Amino acid sequence: MSDVYLNGQFMPLEQATVPVLDRGFIFGDGVYEVIPVYNRSPLALDRHLRRLEYSLDGIRMAYPMSRDAWTSLIHELIAREPSADQSLYLHVTRGVAPREHAFPKDVSPTVFAMSKPLTPPPPSWIKDGVSAITHADFRWLRCDLKTTSLLANVLLRQLAVDAGATECLLIRDGFLTEGAASNALIVLDGQLLAPPRNHLLLPGITYELVLETAARHGLPHKERPVTEAELRRAQEVMMTSSTREIVPITRLDGVPVGNGRPGPVTMRLLDLYQEYKRP
Ligand SMILES: Cc1ncc(COP(=O)(O)O)c(C=O)c1O
Repeated sequence: MSDVYLNGQFMPLEQATVPVLDRGFIFGDGVYEVIPVYNRSPLALDRHLRRLEYSLDGIRMAYPMSRDAWTSLIHELIAREPSADQSLYLHVTRGVAPREHAFPKDVSPTVFAMSKPLTPPPPSWIKDGVSAITHADFRWLRCDLKTTSLLANVLLRQLAVDAGATECLLIRDGFLTEGAASNALIVLDGQLLAPPRNHLLLPGITYELVLETAARHGLPHKERPVTEAELRRAQEVMMTSSTREIVPITRLDGVPVGNGRPGPVTMRLLDLYQEYKRP
């Protein structure tokens, strides 16, 4: 693996260590970003940096770097990684301090970043789609922040793996929110439906790009609450994320979605996304 970045320095991964009193380790007190890189170019970098700032604002942390400093760090990491397509990870915690819940004073944040080869989803995921399960969304009420406190997401994704499925779609009070590590959209009676951006789900960059693509190409779409019943009678269900792009979900809780094959709207969006990401 190419060198990683920790607090101002590049070093081999094995040498990148943080003190055990880092609040990221003790409390999960931090935020992160994952940025896909295609042909050495970060996709939608501005949006990712804006979301990072939004997450930092949400946990009341000062920005550890300017946008220009992030941008040059990102380009340095990209240049150091041999693969042209990469998955770039940024991570900021509130820093190292005696264990006490309230914010410490005069502490420097911990800033960690790395890039690794981007592994695209297996071709069978696109050809046949994947399975998902559903589960009650038992996360907190600030799912719009991309925080490193991911225990609920970890437990929910593991439920999917235990069931031999790829993703766990989350239901809160009778409505679809998102996946354990993805956004979820459905196609119902010819219209693409996206659960609304609010505190209950992460404003995914891929989700936003998909909605904008639909708008540009005249595909009927709406951002509005999606009930569990609508999810279950959808003709198509898809999950979106920066590293997995757009993946058709063709089985939900063991029941075929629509005719059980990836649907035309999902495949059209996937084609358009391929054009968008490599202009
Ligand atoms: C909970 C959750 N929702 C949505 C997403 C998708 O966001 P993006 O498209 O910005 O990767 C992710 C990505 O990892 C996620 O963890």
